[in-house]
Amino acid sequence: MRKIYVFDTTLRDGEQSPGVSLTTNEKVEIALQLERLGVDRIEAGFAATSPGEIESIREVAKQVKNATLLSLARCHVKDIDAAYEALKDAENACLHLVLATSPIHREYKLRMDRAKVLETAEAAIRYGRKFFDRIEFSAEDASRTELDFICEVTRVAIEAGASVVNLPDTVGFATPDQFGAMFRTVKEKVPGIEKIQLSTHCHDDLGMATANTLAAIANGVDQFEATINGIGERAGNTCLEEVALALETRSDFYGAKTSLNLSEIYRTSRMVSKYTGMSVPGNKAIVGANAFAHESGIHQDGMLKNRSTYEIITPETIGASSSRLVLGKHSGRHAFKEKLIDLGYNLNEEGINIAFAKFKALADRKKNILSEDIRALMDDSTMEGPR
Ligand code: KIV
Ligand code: ZN
Repeated sequence: MRKIYVFDTTLRDGEQSPGVSLTTNEKVEIALQLERLGVDRIEAGFAATSPGEIESIREVAKQVKNATLLSLARCHVKDIDAAYEALKDAENACLHLVLATSPIHREYKLRMDRAKVLETAEAAIRYGRKFFDRIEFSAEDASRTELDFICEVTRVAIEAGASVVNLPDTVGFATPDQFGAMFRTVKEKVPGIEKIQLSTHCHDDLGMATANTLAAIANGVDQFEATINGIGERAGNTCLEEVALALETRSDFYGAKTSLNLSEIYRTSRMVSKYTGMSVPGNKAIVGANAFAHESGIHQDGMLKNRSTYEIITPETIGASSSRLVLGKHSGRHAFKEKLIDLGYNLNEEGINIAFAKFKALADRKKNILSEDIRALMDDSTMEGPR
């Protein structure tokens, strides 16, 4: 099975979520948890942002032993120098250089033509190689860049000494078919492509970050970049846990796996939520509070007979405690009966029918039925109490 490298950017792109700012201690704790999760690469920050950012990356570098650490840098000497300052004591370091390549960015942001972009990228990679053995080069806004120019940029980056070339969907504009085709073309057309790793980095503006990342993987990329809980600029980045679980659950289709310790996913998600102050929506795939909760009678009956009827992943896989059968107005008799047994009631069939009718009447008025509600219902004089 093909190994897919996991590049976590929670501490850099994730921290770019509006309103989020992590302390050095929080960054270190999250980085150590990411190591326990088994990510291969951790982007610890963007060193040139501030002296405090350099300090945070240095602290992370002191503690992280296995994962490769990266700092983002624009193709400027001062950014590269700052990244070196931050990462010089890291066990395994890699410089992450970024330069936009799309016509929109070339014209309005960089004011560079194609030739100048190539020259700037090449010079920055060559300068970076004086300090770093490994360099990742990102062609920002690759998905809105002419395909022939993407191939050209990739070729120049390889020749200048990059070991990873990342082609991001910076503004979440790509569709899965288009995005997959871009990687296929680059793999077919760029000389020397087999010497480097190709990487994907997506944003979720149209809700397609996970689909686009999986399309890139299906078309041969070696690495995906993502954040825990999908936090990040605007609508966020690719959600790390979604891609990891999609690869795990559908390895029959993708033929590729990460080397993550999946049972650390839930703990990592909760830690990132706590430190960033960004709550995880209940219906969030994989890590939401409802991801393993079942309310309807049909689903609860299936679950009680065999969990695989309605669960394609078990909560234990990601280190969450257990599935929940939630009692509400859609719940059926089977789940209600199990709940009564759990609470210590042992009724005959007729008693269950009476209690179930009362429960349904209550559920029409009350959204969340708790154990206390069931006990109150059973304490009603017309019902039998626990034995
Ligand atoms: O979205 C993007 O293009 C980025 C790059 C720095 C990789 O975050
Ligand atoms: Zn990004």
